[in-house]
Amino acid sequence: MSPQSPNTKSLVEVRELTKTFNGLTAVDHISFDIYEGEILGLLGPNGAGKTTTIHMLLDIVSPSSGNVLFGGKNLRHHREEILRQINFASSHIAMPFSLTVEENLEIFGRLYEVPHRKTRIEQVLEELEMTSLRSKLARTLSSGQMTRLSLAKAFLTQPRLLLLDEPTASLDPDIADKTRTLVREYQRRFACTILYTSHNMKEMEHMSDRIIFLNRGKIVATGTAQEITAKFGQRDLEDVFLTVARNG
Ligand SMILES: Nc1ncnc2c1ncn2[C@@H]1O[C@H](COP(=O)(O)OP(=O)(O)OP(=O)(O)O)[C@@H](O)[C@H]1O
Ligand SMILES: [Mg+2]
Repeated sequence: MSPQSPNTKSLVEVRELTKTFNGLTAVDHISFDIYEGEILGLLGPNGAGKTTTIHMLLDIVSPSSGNVLFGGKNLRHHREEILRQINFASSHIAMPFSLTVEENLEIFGRLYEVPHRKTRIEQVLEELEMTSLRSKLARTLSSGQMTRLSLAKAFLTQPRLLLLDEPTASLDPDIADKTRTLVREYQRRFACTILYTSHNMKEMEHMSDRIIFLNRGKIVATGTAQEITAKFGQRDLEDVFLTVARNG
């Protein structure tokens, strides 16, 4: 989907969003939309402000200024109603280690008040091919299995907006590819909207309908991978990344 495509109804409108930590402006007056049903890639060097932006969309971090609108409603004023429609997965967030896969999903199912919880847990275990792992303790999972557990937790609520912060970090190419397929299949099946971060440029190109390029808290480019590559006069996204990261 490109910004010119007919389906540009905004699910999320981010307006002048800013976060300052003790004098450091991590996110600096950024404005962008996430269109209904798209996969939007959030790209940028280490410390660019990607995770902080995602955390503000989840209201884990309070913005210093600016607004997030979800379905036209302000996150600040409709927090509970909006957060029920969002979920997230990150390879950096630890799941309760001393519980089994199934117990983890049970805990999150209760926390999120998932309707028909037991049935939904079974469905998610099957969707992510995790039924054989159900009794395994989280601390004994491999990183690929842990990623799948994190995705399972996120899929549990069938969110309208899925935020994925480096879901394929530290995965081998085979498991990373399977994870991408799972996310794609899930998105097709449930027509959800996804905001996605990754440091893998090929993955960004393949997964994202559009990309927002952040550098030092500011948006430096928005568009399809081809549009951004053309804008910077580079061969591919990798070269754009190196140019931005090294020259600002
Ligand atoms: N809780 C915090 N307190 C102070 N500074 C923070 C905090 N969280 C993030 N920062 C700073 O904000 C900036 C942006 O961090 P953020 O984690 O959003 O970057 P990122 O784009 O996700 O980077 P990476 O690719 O390394 O994950 C960094 O300089 C970071 O040190
Ligand atoms: Mg990050």
